[in-house]
Amino acid sequence: MLSGIQPTADSFHLGNYLGALRNWVPMQETHDTFYCVVDLHAITMGHDPALLRKRTRVSAAQLLAVGLDPERCTLFVQSHVPEHSQLAWVMNCLTGFGEASRMTQFKDKSAKQGADRTSVGLFTYPILQAADILLYQADAVPVGEDQRQHLELTRDLAQRFNTTFGPTFTVPAPYIIKDTAKITDLQEPTAKMSKSASTANGLVELLEEPSRIAKKIKSAVTDTGREILFDPVNKPGVSNLLTIYAALTGRTIEELVESYDGKGYGDLKKELAEVVVEFVKPIQERTRAYLDDPSQLDKLLAIGAEKARSVAAPTLASVYDRIGFLAPG
Ligand code: TYM
Repeated sequence: MLSGIQPTADSFHLGNYLGALRNWVPMQETHDTFYCVVDLHAITMGHDPALLRKRTRVSAAQLLAVGLDPERCTLFVQSHVPEHSQLAWVMNCLTGFGEASRMTQFKDKSAKQGADRTSVGLFTYPILQAADILLYQADAVPVGEDQRQHLELTRDLAQRFNTTFGPTFTVPAPYIIKDTAKITDLQEPTAKMSKSASTANGLVELLEEPSRIAKKIKSAVTDTGREILFDPVNKPGVSNLLTIYAALTGRTIEELVESYDGKGYGDLKKELAEVVVEFVKPIQERTRAYLDDPSQLDKLLAIGAEKARSVAAPTLASVYDRIGFLAPG
């Protein structure tokens, strides 16, 4: 099992947590798990070096804080394992230009930036993602809905390689939990919650000031009408709040809807604000504790990288052999 997350913000947000990270934790018990802070992906849109270094540590600290245990999983930084870039090159050469051009995230992002300001790295981003996954022979990849197309490409590339050069890669399946696969923006409840959202008020970050989180939830856009019902088409705002509420408390949506019978949107928002604040507080404390000792954190990541390499290197060696690269004498 492998998954990755970009260190492109000062904090992960509730969408990252509910769509992906929340599933990473229990999978440590059932799978051989590899979790990767994808810093190579984080330089595809332009970046600040000092900020990237800081965010890479903050990302690792948050992953530990939400429950990843370096004794039970392999937690590492992508650039520490050079096999990712090496396999990505091979995969670049197996990917059609048209095929890569059809990736919707690339189309959206490059349309916003304009062709001359869009890097070739952004274009080949999904191919690097395929290399991340295939190096570890992952069969399951827990992600949010927005990664589905990238995983389809990964499957196609794995199959293409296997057919062309002989069985080498496990063909991975996406592991997407439908209920929380797309957490939406609090201010624009039909758009996904995202760090590049138009307003910061739509985004709840795990590490932000609890009082700000409460304020954002209390000012979330709700829908016309007054009844608290789960109806993502007609009541996307309220439905998103119910989804978050259910996921964080383990209560079912039906149970919540029933308990809010006769109450108003204000009650729901006020109580959800408390739930989210209580949820983030211990994560914030644990993240701070990990960041207080950066050398210990770096040590954990070095151990993770070594474990990751012990799996990635043999995969790359067999790929190099299969495609006919002459082994160094
Ligand atoms: P990234 O860093 O954008 O997001 C990390 C994870 O969070 C999920 N996610 C969401 N889930 C539900 N609702 C939302 N609003 C929401 N926003 C984000 C994403 O689906 C993702 O699972 N390309 C990947 C990183 C990556 C990767 C990989 C993932 C690189 N290599 C290999 C899996 C396997 C990305 O940009 O995630």
